[in-house]
Amino acid sequence: MCGALAHLVERFHGMEEVRSSSLLRSTIINLMVDFYMKTILTGIRSNSVLTLGNYLGALLPMVRLANKHSKDSQINIFVPDLHSIISDVDGDLRENIIRTIKYYLAAGLEINENVHIYRQSYVPAHSELCWILNCVATMGETSRMTQYKEKSKGQESCNVGIFDYPILMAADILLYSATYVPIGEDQFQHIELTRNIAMRFNHKFGEIFTVPAKTADQVKFMEVSDGIRIRDLLNPEKKMSKSTKAENSKIMLDDDPAKAAKKIMSATTDSLGKVKFDMFNQPGVSNLLQIEALVNDVPLQDVVSAWAGTTRYGDLKSKVAESVSKMLVDFQAKMTEISDKQVCELLEKGEKYANGVANAKLLEVQRAFHLR
Ligand code: TRP
Repeated sequence: MCGALAHLVERFHGMEEVRSSSLLRSTIINLMVDFYMKTILTGIRSNSVLTLGNYLGALLPMVRLANKHSKDSQINIFVPDLHSIISDVDGDLRENIIRTIKYYLAAGLEINENVHIYRQSYVPAHSELCWILNCVATMGETSRMTQYKEKSKGQESCNVGIFDYPILMAADILLYSATYVPIGEDQFQHIELTRNIAMRFNHKFGEIFTVPAKTADQVKFMEVSDGIRIRDLLNPEKKMSKSTKAENSKIMLDDDPAKAAKKIMSATTDSLGKVKFDMFNQPGVSNLLQIEALVNDVPLQDVVSAWAGTTRYGDLKSKVAESVSKMLVDFQAKMTEISDKQVCELLEKGEKYANGVANAKLLEVQRAFHLR
């Protein structure tokens, strides 16, 4: 916590009436955090083992962003387990959640008192606020969501959770007054919907919600021009996806490193015979350059310049295969060093904090509707 805020919190803690009411305390802390610090919030569904694409394109950039800002911002990293159950989950959801938290830690997430890790379903205010926001959002705006249209397409009966997904997401964000929500471009529409709901609510009831930053500002904050998308190794026009059947199309984080190296060696390239970053004309080669840069944490431009003018795709593949297998060896070793107990302790602490913040915000909303 920054100095001035810590000082204020301490002063309020000292007051008898504040000490005797945990709710009042949370409300005051909320107000002060809103005033002094920004909240950065993100979640990643834990329905299965992640691909290298999920890791390099979403989880790792988030960890780097969190580490950069955790001295002067609140960082909320949560597992949207209620969002998980809109579709089938591979294996046991509880185990998947523990593994996901381990991914963050193995990726180097630094924990301090501003970093909060929690499970959505352990903070009941999310579902409660979701219901209330259902009564603020309109059928029209929710029906326009691309993700809903795509997921419900061709399904004889689509569950209501798929439709309501973005409203629960709005609750996830608004409960914590988050300004920045680092997220993939497929979720930008949901951020815009969240903003609209928050502005409509505030217009009617006063400034209760912090309106998250516009998509353009989110992108600036994330420091990526148009999102990182790791491609399918065999069909590089497509995004790498765990649901693709062909094993050689994707690398999973628990793949045997030697096997992963072989997959890189068999990646599709092209017949142009020059190493160049050009996602449009040379998506396969560009994808390999992108992977090489992210795995080694060096700017893409440096990798592109280092390979400029070379013609042998085999050399590039060997280098990327070596980088990926080395990364997997290190990553998997770190995963085994982190115990379930360590993760559970982090979650319990995070959930205590999250319930405090979320319940205080929920009460403001309930009061606005005269439910309290
Ligand atoms: N919808 C996000 C995804 O599929 C996960 C998510 C749920 C989320 N609630 C959120 C992300 C709130 C950021 C903020 O990846």
